[in-house]
Amino acid sequence: MPEGGLYVVKGVLCMNGSVFKEELFKGKKVFITGGATGMGLGFSRAFLEHGANVFIASRNAERLELASEKLKELTGKSILWKVMDVREESSVEEAVGFIEQEWGSIDVVVNNAAGNFFCPIENLSENGWRAVVDIVLDGTFRVSKKCFPLLKQNGGSIVNIIANYAWSAAPYVGHSGAAKAGVLNLTRTLALEWGRHNIRVNAMCPGVVLTEGVKKNLLGDESIIERLENDIPIGGIASVEQMAQQVLYLCSPAADVITGEVLVADGGQSLVGNMFYSLGKEFYK
Ligand code: COA
Repeated sequence: MPEGGLYVVKGVLCMNGSVFKEELFKGKKVFITGGATGMGLGFSRAFLEHGANVFIASRNAERLELASEKLKELTGKSILWKVMDVREESSVEEAVGFIEQEWGSIDVVVNNAAGNFFCPIENLSENGWRAVVDIVLDGTFRVSKKCFPLLKQNGGSIVNIIANYAWSAAPYVGHSGAAKAGVLNLTRTLALEWGRHNIRVNAMCPGVVLTEGVKKNLLGDESIIERLENDIPIGGIASVEQMAQQVLYLCSPAADVITGEVLVADGGQSLVGNMFYSLGKEFYK
């Protein structure tokens, strides 16, 4: 993906590969958890490039600072950031308190922070299960709940990032699968409970996106990547920028009648089969 300017993507004139107009989120206040790396960093960049004010929070100050510098370099815009652990209620409270002081309200929350690793359930420790469920499911609950008073002021949008094993089985990533399934259900519940406050709550479901974290923790081997690519009917392995377009859409006025939905952006991969079943079976003989 080019680093700046106007480009033609599939016949459409775009800014930085985006089909959306530059000022789509002008002045909007956007909070992205895990926004310093991987997809979260791509979402941060995309919102900045469409006029939003962006606040990111995650556990590592160094990565947050680096992300802030990188985003400034790429977009010419400054972000706000704070260290936050989605597993700690007080930490989430502090971060949201900071947003309240700085902005007074929020328009968009992207629950993107996640943790995952391959491990068959029979080998998974209590603590390993708890770590992932606490980050993914409890973290989404905590952040959404704490942001609610700020979201309801002007209405807004929440996007929860899930995975395409949330509605089937999640072999060898069972902790993540159970947690993402919980997030999917929570997405629909919140859509109903908060609709009267004009807060839309949706989930975005990527397929295979090769961020540095995914390469390192889940899909290190090139041959695995090739095999996964063969099972994606359209578009191949997706880029972070493509996933950012889905999130922008869900938060845009074009989606203002969409709530409690899941946007599956996996090139049809989940219709073909379970991503991890045969790979995991070979690995954990
Ligand atoms: N296999 C089996 N168990 C694992 C594991 C692995 N690959 N990685 C972590 N665990 C277990 C640990 O052993 C520990 O359990 P124990 O105390 O019974 O030994 C438990 O999970 C917590 O791990 P720890 O590293 O102490 O927790 P943490 O809070 O620092 O981090 C994660 C938890 C999930 C965030 C961490 O595994 C991680 O950093 N993963 C990679 C980052 C990531 O997932 N990015 C998203 C990619 S989609």
